[in-house]
Amino acid sequence: MPKHIFRLLALLVGALIVAVVLKGLLTDGSFYRFGHYRAQSVPEIAALTPVLQTSAYCKDCHAERVKQWSENAHKVVNCETCHGPALGHPKDRKMPIPEDSVKLCTLCHEAMPARPDTQPQINVAKHAKGRQCVLCHNPHEP
Ligand code: HEC
Ligand code: HEC
Ligand code: HEC
Ligand code: HEC
Repeated sequence: MPKHIFRLLALLVGALIVAVVLKGLLTDGSFYRFGHYRAQSVPEIAALTPVLQTSAYCKDCHAERVKQWSENAHKVVNCETCHGPALGHPKDRKMPIPEDSVKLCTLCHEAMPARPDTQPQINVAKHAKGRQCVLCHNPHEP
């Protein structure tokens, strides 16, 4: 065999051996237990603490707000959709009060052809004329 072909083959075989050894070392033990993924990732993800606490969590401390909210149209919008995740509140975390209601409310109420008719839509610029939505609408009783 010509020398240069032999060198080429030796290089390829060497690379193959390195690849097989590295694959054995780097593949997690639980890979392929159930399929083409790391089986251990499922319990790992399930063990994380959810940052969202749901609106029921607010009830004991903000009873009045929850009552108002649950009797009006925005009961379909969770408290945390507007106020952010509540994990750690009130002990370690202050909940933000949205400052720019135009920015917040536009996310869901700006008229768009693809939006369902059940979601009330307005032309924000024409409707609000630059004023804050909370000037006229109570976000918990819109
Ligand atoms: C264990 C009682 C408790 C629970 C449960 C709780 N809060 Fe609070 N919340 C407080 C207290 C006390 C304050 C006032 C101190 C502070 O600003 O952190 C507060 C303040 C707030 C504020 C700011 C009000 C202001 O005037 O600064 C918002 C907004 C808020 N909470 C929203 C929520 C939402 C939304 C939930 C449910 C996801 C919730 N809270 C659950 C006790 C609670
Ligand atoms: C559609 C968005 C939205 C939802 C849903 C919402 N909030 Fe608010 N919340 C606001 C905005 C905006 C303000 C500030 C109002 C203002 O500036 O007049 C506010 C203010 C507050 C405040 C502080 C000032 C106040 O009025 O007492 C508390 C506490 C609060 N919300 C709790 C809640 C709780 C509890 C829920 C669920 C039951 C909830 N919010 C759901 C948008 C929302
Ligand atoms: C996450 C999406 C979302 C956000 C953010 C949101 N809304 Fe809504 N809003 C809705 C939906 C959905 C409805 C219709 C609920 C229904 O009728 O079932 C609604 C209903 C309304 C209505 C009609 C109320 C009625 O009784 O018919 C008004 C007014 C309104 N929202 C104003 C606001 C204002 C002001 C803000 C900002 C403080 C805001 N919305 C933020 C989703 C949102
Ligand atoms: C100057 C007061 C005022 C301001 C500011 C205002 N609105 Fe309104 N909004 C009204 C009144 C009054 C109505 C009911 C009559 C109507 O439909 O025009 C209404 C109706 C609505 C409706 C229901 C429309 C429907 O088809 O049922 C939505 C959604 C709404 N507003 C969202 C907003 C949002 C989002 C903002 C901020 C960008 C805002 N509004 C700012 C006074 C106001």
